[in-house]
Amino acid sequence: MRKILVVIIILFANLLSAFSISSKELTRIDSLIHIMTLDEKIGQMTQLCFSTITLDGSKSLDLNVDNFRESVIKYNIGSFLSGSDSYDKWFKFITAIQKIAVEETRLKIPLIIGIDHVHGANYVTEGTIFPHNISLACSFNQQVVAKVATVCAIETAPIGLTWNFAPVLDVGKNPYWPRFYETFGEDPFLCSEMGKTFIKTYEGCPHILPAKLSACAKHFIGYSDPKYGYDRTPSEIPAQVLWEFFVPPFKAAFDAGVKTVMINSGELNGEAVHGSKYLLDTLLRQQLGFKGVVVTDIKDIERLELMHKTVENQKEGTFRSVDAGIDMYMACNSYLFIRNMKELVAEGRISMKRIDESVGRILRLKFELGLFDNPYPSKQLLSKVNQTKNQIEAREVAEESIVLLKNDGILPLSKGKKILISGLGANSKGMLNGPWTFDWLGAPENQQPQNMKSLYESMQDKFGTKNLKYVDLEGINSEKEKKQFIRDAKNSDIILLAVGEKPYSEFMGNINDLTLDKMQLNLMDAAIETGKPVVVVLLEGRPRVFTEQADKINAILFAGYPGIKGAEALVNILSGSVNPSGKLAFTYPLSVGHVSPYYNKPSEYNIYWKNNPVRKNLFPFGQGLSYTNFEYSKLELSDTIFTKDNQEIMATIRIKNTGNLPGKEAVLWYVSDEIGTISRPVTLLKHFEKIDLKEGEEKTVKFIIKPNEQLSYPDKNGCQILENGSFKILVGGLEKRFYINKTNALF
Ligand code: GLC
Repeated sequence: MRKILVVIIILFANLLSAFSISSKELTRIDSLIHIMTLDEKIGQMTQLCFSTITLDGSKSLDLNVDNFRESVIKYNIGSFLSGSDSYDKWFKFITAIQKIAVEETRLKIPLIIGIDHVHGANYVTEGTIFPHNISLACSFNQQVVAKVATVCAIETAPIGLTWNFAPVLDVGKNPYWPRFYETFGEDPFLCSEMGKTFIKTYEGCPHILPAKLSACAKHFIGYSDPKYGYDRTPSEIPAQVLWEFFVPPFKAAFDAGVKTVMINSGELNGEAVHGSKYLLDTLLRQQLGFKGVVVTDIKDIERLELMHKTVENQKEGTFRSVDAGIDMYMACNSYLFIRNMKELVAEGRISMKRIDESVGRILRLKFELGLFDNPYPSKQLLSKVNQTKNQIEAREVAEESIVLLKNDGILPLSKGKKILISGLGANSKGMLNGPWTFDWLGAPENQQPQNMKSLYESMQDKFGTKNLKYVDLEGINSEKEKKQFIRDAKNSDIILLAVGEKPYSEFMGNINDLTLDKMQLNLMDAAIETGKPVVVVLLEGRPRVFTEQADKINAILFAGYPGIKGAEALVNILSGSVNPSGKLAFTYPLSVGHVSPYYNKPSEYNIYWKNNPVRKNLFPFGQGLSYTNFEYSKLELSDTIFTKDNQEIMATIRIKNTGNLPGKEAVLWYVSDEIGTISRPVTLLKHFEKIDLKEGEEKTVKFIIKPNEQLSYPDKNGCQILENGSFKILVGGLEKRFYINKTNALF
């Protein structure tokens, strides 16, 4: 008894010190834990997929009540995930399962439901589908991310889905990786800023109160740079690189108060992350200070045995993962975890104290989300959902995320021109909404929203049906098809091709070659051969290589998967109604054999062949054109030497819109640390902001340089290093040198 009391006091102290949660609620959690049986505690640590409790075993929400009752009454399951249906079905389903959970179970603990609303309420039939994160990052506007998070919260909260498995905070350093489009791009600072904006906005959304929602920082850690490009395959990331390029977005998320973390399914430096005590306890909890709920990715304890082969069976996998620090297992469709946990407790290998730690975090999360007060969907919140308004925002987000990569003047398209439109995405809604739309791989064309337009349909609206000729071709596979295409193009003035990648997700998107597939390259070649101007829209999740064609094409737009209003957004840009302002949040590779992220150290080859500039990429990080011009001038620094720790230097730049159109400009500030004990990247993004400038208007934009924040870097132990030496600040093609010298020695 004394031992239990000591455990309770320790737990109480930990929880109280950990969070701003009322002592009353803590007492309640504490009392709950005190009276919970082992089965009830382990049930709270187990999450099942809805497919185990629906009639047909799919995500569609027809409840199999018997299965559900067995899961919550016999097995005390505390959490479920992943369904996809209409608001009406969601409403009925969540109401039914929460009612059984809070009325028929012994302790009446409400369920917490997880969902992957990763680009809007994408598992609700009527949901507003936004562009994926890679496009949001290209806007270089945190307000764009805040808009998406707000609409997503407003459309998710009414149906009681309180746990969103978003945002992905993996840094998109490997363009082969099939989840590249889920990242905020290749720069750690950009990922940090966009990720924390999503989290703060989503978890703090005032429009849905009293409902509260949890985001989820995923996938901790090192998932996004698999050595061979395939999903869930080993990453080899040196400790110093991990700290400098992979930790920051997660640290920013923890500092922003994110309530949950999901773990990387892969391996990092030989360790299966789900079984790594160093990564899940030392790094995540002790060094980075995360105190919330850690959930596994789907069936990843099983994978310790079946895929990573780091344990000989499920029971050892359970021990390894729980001992490493997971709180909840996304078991999906198996109760084996429960049996293994009971055996491990009976054998004394997992202590009740360890279990109470996880259960305490899970109950605290449910309390903080208000689930004990009201776990039910809300008709009042549902009545506030304004799809029309939300879809306007979806179009504006897409417009600000689309990147004009190349334009020889053919854009904007003039009215009255005869336009031939063709290609994989020309008349496809699925290619606009992309993956994780109604299902993880995206929905078939006949299940896409009826009220949505394809690019072809939207082009007809804007340019007139008689000026549009649609050639229904995904690509060209023969000389005969090529000749026919050239004949079809005879009476057209311009050729518009929508090319890219059909939606894919995770390992289903593994590729061996980053080059765009041959049939689409053939289509571009045929279009070029007509001798008419060619405009290409890229609808893809990662930068597929098409250099030879790109050099001959007149205009290129990167649109990612632009969402439910993506067609209208693209047409507004193609027609000039909207001035594009996106910039690449990643490097567009020149060739498949040499992918060099923008901040890579220049190879010796580059330095010693300076009179033969090596073309490092097709388009660089930060590439993005406008229909107007922005002139940068007068880069000035308030000082050129740091001599004191808390000193700041103000950098200012003048930017003028010298064209005859209003426009938005993403102002990207980089810093180069010219000499570093640890080899420094050529340059790193350290600040960005989006400004509006009317034609002729000019503004002064500033960036306050704070040495500890922007000029230091981590060593292999994560300790920040701030060294004397020379630095450069770069913005808009201008640069200025400054120094750190805390010893006042002369340079
Ligand atoms: C998937 C993904 C993860 C997602 C989870 C639940 O395997 O890796 O991002 O949140 O399963 O759907």
